[in-house]
Amino acid sequence: MVDLKLPERLLNYMNLNEIKVNISESNYSIFIGNKILNILPKKIKSLCPKTKKIAIILDKKVPKKYKFKIKKLLKNYQLFIFEYSANEKLKSFSNVNKLSEKILSKNFNRNDIIIAVGGGIVGDFSAFTASIIKRGINFINIPSTLLAQVDSSIGGKTGVNSIYGKNLIGSFYQPKIVLIDVSLLNSLSKREMVCGYAEILKHSLILKNNFFKWLKLKSKKILEYRERNLLKQAIYRSCKVKLYFVKKDVKEKNLRMKLNFGHTFAHAIEAQNNYSHKINHGEAVLIGMMMATKLSVIKKVCSNNVMLEISKIYRENNLISKFKKFFKKKNYNKIIHFMANDKKNDDQKINLILLKSIGRTTNPGTFKLSLKEMKKHFPILLNFNF
Ligand SMILES: NC(=O)c1ccc[n+]([C@@H]2O[C@H](COP(=O)([O-])OP(=O)(O)OC[C@H]3O[C@@H](n4cnc5c(N)ncnc54)[C@H](O)[C@@H]3O)[C@@H](O)[C@H]2O)c1
Repeated sequence: MVDLKLPERLLNYMNLNEIKVNISESNYSIFIGNKILNILPKKIKSLCPKTKKIAIILDKKVPKKYKFKIKKLLKNYQLFIFEYSANEKLKSFSNVNKLSEKILSKNFNRNDIIIAVGGGIVGDFSAFTASIIKRGINFINIPSTLLAQVDSSIGGKTGVNSIYGKNLIGSFYQPKIVLIDVSLLNSLSKREMVCGYAEILKHSLILKNNFFKWLKLKSKKILEYRERNLLKQAIYRSCKVKLYFVKKDVKEKNLRMKLNFGHTFAHAIEAQNNYSHKINHGEAVLIGMMMATKLSVIKKVCSNNVMLEISKIYRENNLISKFKKFFKKKNYNKIIHFMANDKKNDDQKINLILLKSIGRTTNPGTFKLSLKEMKKHFPILLNFNF
């Protein structure tokens, strides 16, 4: 069992938790807490003492009070605020170009900083821009969705979309700090909370550290009541799991692919729905994880009891009760076709991560399914009732 022991007692009493990260010669910290934006000026002063200019890339849905707070906190710097509506169209090369030109026109140099305040879309877009301006200027991430706090802000993957697919243009670029303030989640919709929770659940399933056991007991309080201490702990544990894999395989050549558990199904479901709001990424991941688990049972990689245990957490938290409407028989082949085109495949077969038990998955590249077999199993994989 991997020991990711938490300073749980501390977590309950302290507001601020720090995870020290050491990846690809970058050392930085992830700070997790409630109402912790105040630490920003001090951190900037010590990490980037020569900074004069800061560009804030702000998600328009982040409540205005945070914009004013950040403006006040950073009043000693020359501040430029760029506000965007978050949608996948923002993640384009042409938007990166436009933003880069604006920032360059203000004479930013490598000592200056880009700060993203937003969900995964604003984060990916800003981080990629920071990674290419003058071959890399300082970047700080303040993720404002649960998904961004437990997933996209962690690990240094940046990127934008191409007409050929999602996230096909990008870089690996580490931030100076990640500041996770759970108070930013107050205004987040329930649907977006579930989206982030999907990745938390995934993290609890792919590494043995009692996280799943804990999550089973706390999910309702996290999702329904957004209890801050529990949210902080869930985020902390989640970041630790993600970092465990990232550190072992920064450039995603092997082990990091375990983080794709459920995602091959999910990406195909999203693609088949044209990435519309009908089904968001987290909902697709929740469905994908169930399908992957069911396939694991069919292939005798895991026991039915594991499946039942996971089903229970779905049922108790009403995670995907309305999913059936997304699956019409006539679309099954389209979804399978998207799976066959997944960028992680290296031959004609569909490469999948299966679940062996709670906390253990198959190794990347060791389980592949032909198109024919996938077509045979697909309707059964969707056959779960909640
Ligand atoms: N870089 C990575 O490793 C990585 C990992 C996972 C996902 N991603 C990317 O992340 C993106 C999805 O991120 P996401 O789920 O955060 O979606 P998102 O950025 O679209 O945010 C979801 C919604 O929440 C709104 N929002 C943001 N903060 C808010 C707040 N505090 N209060 C109210 N509303 C708020 C946004 O405006 C948006 O409408 C995708 O583009 C995906 O490709 C990247």
